[in-house]
Amino acid sequence: MSSSEPAEASSKPEATQVQSDTSNPLPMSKSALKRLWKQEKWEAGIDDRRKRRKEKRHERKVRARDERAALIAQGVDPAELQKKKQVSTLAPVGIIVDCDFEDYMMDKERVSLSSQVTRAYSDNKAARYRSHLWVAGFNKGIAKRFHEVLLDQHKKWKGIWFDEGDYISCAAKIRERMSATDGSGGEMIESLQRSLDEPTAWTRDETDPFPMPGPEPPLDEANKDVVYLSSDSPYTLERLEPNTCYVVGGLVDKNREKGLCYRRAREKGIRTARLPIGQFMVMQSRQVLATNHVVEIMLKWLECGDWGQAFLSVIPKRKGGKLRSENGEAEAEDGEEAEGKEDEDENQGEAEVEEVAEASESKEENAVEVETSTNVVDESKSGAEEAKEAQA
Ligand SMILES: C[S@@+](CC[C@H](N)C(=O)[O-])C[C@H]1O[C@@H](n2cnc3c(N)ncnc32)[C@H](O)[C@@H]1O
Repeated sequence: MSSSEPAEASSKPEATQVQSDTSNPLPMSKSALKRLWKQEKWEAGIDDRRKRRKEKRHERKVRARDERAALIAQGVDPAELQKKKQVSTLAPVGIIVDCDFEDYMMDKERVSLSSQVTRAYSDNKAARYRSHLWVAGFNKGIAKRFHEVLLDQHKKWKGIWFDEGDYISCAAKIRERMSATDGSGGEMIESLQRSLDEPTAWTRDETDPFPMPGPEPPLDEANKDVVYLSSDSPYTLERLEPNTCYVVGGLVDKNREKGLCYRRAREKGIRTARLPIGQFMVMQSRQVLATNHVVEIMLKWLECGDWGQAFLSVIPKRKGGKLRSENGEAEAEDGEEAEGKEDEDENQGEAEVEEVAEASESKEENAVEVETSTNVVDESKSGAEEAKEAQA
């Protein structure tokens, strides 16, 4: 291709190409060209991906119809079977995604955060034990994005609350819900009951990674049931406890802002804790996880009460995590890869937004949620899952 021809989405650009805009003859850098090429390639594939997702949905529907017919032929009532299989129970635990970090993120990171919130919602909705999920600080950029790009679809989502207030005011609202005497605040489940029966010490490292200049602010007694999760905390989270709110920083910062969430919580006298990753896993990279992965880990823990299992199924493979064996080393490979999440494409955020926005286009393709005292989760896959399939 000559340097004067426009770059084609399907072929990689040459470093010597110049911008096609003749009013600005400056040559583009190699990385700017690469970004442009990726963006064009991504945009060129929108229709294809949409078509593939539609085909998959169709295949799933046909499969479900056939399975249903087979069950009926055997005298089984599919509706009864589905109810038994997919019951999701609300647990008395709050998870708050604190989105009050607008000024610390770049545009691209804000996009990524909104897709992480989407994932947290779909994971919570599909979880065996779901939490009271709240999004705090839902104003400014993130609210604008949900309004403009997701076309306010989130207003139809069930089991998640978007609140303009800060995480402390959200915790107060969750506390009130969890203390409802009619049982609507959640059901005591095995993993949480064990935390009550066998309380563990709240252990602290000897050194504080981010000592504060003045004296340590006293614990805020009124909010002692709130724990801000931070990989920088000197405290280890041994277990989740009932009637407690866990705050996860809604922040995508490639760890530029070290200790930000930790300091923010401590200044207000809020307890902090880090996930016990080091106790269970040997990691080849940092132990700072994405917001939605932290949410998913807590949901898995509610289900199995085992951090090792929760980390193994959620921590992305690219982080190179392996379970620790009894002697503290990484467990030997058995030929199979850990079931951790696949590495994410940098356009994953857009794929999910596309998927969720698209789901709103067709009412019959939308997830159908049946609200009962427990929640019967629909059979169709979550937006995040489908987005992932579409990426594959
Ligand atoms: C991408 S991290 C943000 C890192 C940021 N520099 C900070 O100050 O926390 C997103 C959030 O996930 C949670 N998180 C990530 N890794 C964690 C870990 N190992 N233990 C506890 N929480 C973690 C924290 O709430 C954190 O704010």
